[in-house]
Amino acid sequence: MIAPIFAANWKMNNGPTTAREFMLSFLSLYPRQNDRTIIFFPPALSFHTVAASLGERHDILLGVQNVHWEDQGAFTGELSVPIARDAGARLVLVGHSERRHVFGETDDECARKCAAVERGGLTPMLCVGETLEQRESGDAEATVKRQLRAGLSRMTQLMQRPIAVAYEPVWAIGTGKNATPDDATTMHEAIRDELENLCGDRARTTSILYGGSVNPGNAPQLIAAPEVDGLLVGGASLDPGAWLAIARA
Ligand code: PGA
Repeated sequence: MIAPIFAANWKMNNGPTTAREFMLSFLSLYPRQNDRTIIFFPPALSFHTVAASLGERHDILLGVQNVHWEDQGAFTGELSVPIARDAGARLVLVGHSERRHVFGETDDECARKCAAVERGGLTPMLCVGETLEQRESGDAEATVKRQLRAGLSRMTQLMQRPIAVAYEPVWAIGTGKNATPDDATTMHEAIRDELENLCGDRARTTSILYGGSVNPGNAPQLIAAPEVDGLLVGGASLDPGAWLAIARA
């Protein structure tokens, strides 16, 4: 049994001032819980504010939304894994659907990023998910399995090092149309099967999160669905009340 993960992906929202207010209110209403893990993925410029507001709350982890695959150098505007680690990040989102579909990130770039995250000692949370077209043509499972194989293909210690996977169907992100718990279970089973092919027993202890229009109303059913080990939440994680309700689901 994996302790459930509730992860907030703030995307390009919540600058330092809002982030500080959000964290003060969240931390005062959310005492330490040992049966679950909370993760925040703030925008880079708010990362320090969120980290500072956590103080001794080591039960809450932080991650960054994206990294470059090189460790350092002349890459204006980019963030590296060593920088993220130095700032206190434990996880890195890789291949979020907006990175893939808005910024044209390829499977091979995702693979390079996962390898850099592994090299730097952080945990990648590789995002996979099919488009509506791929779902309607019956290619949903094949798509996520391909993204998974490709994304993890450059990692060398898959058997030893923790990874997490987020299943986020593209048609469900920010659209108000979430996958049903049954759909999520089916896709998570397919992901777990593929993980077993790639990293054997490690698959059973790898967290697979569902993301896409999670809200306080659907979170309890989604987190209770078989094979769903956590929730990755965008829009609803920006509303302190909604996020608190989800984190307590
Ligand atoms: P959403 O986004 O909850 O707003 O659908 C989820 C995500 O993109 O991680």
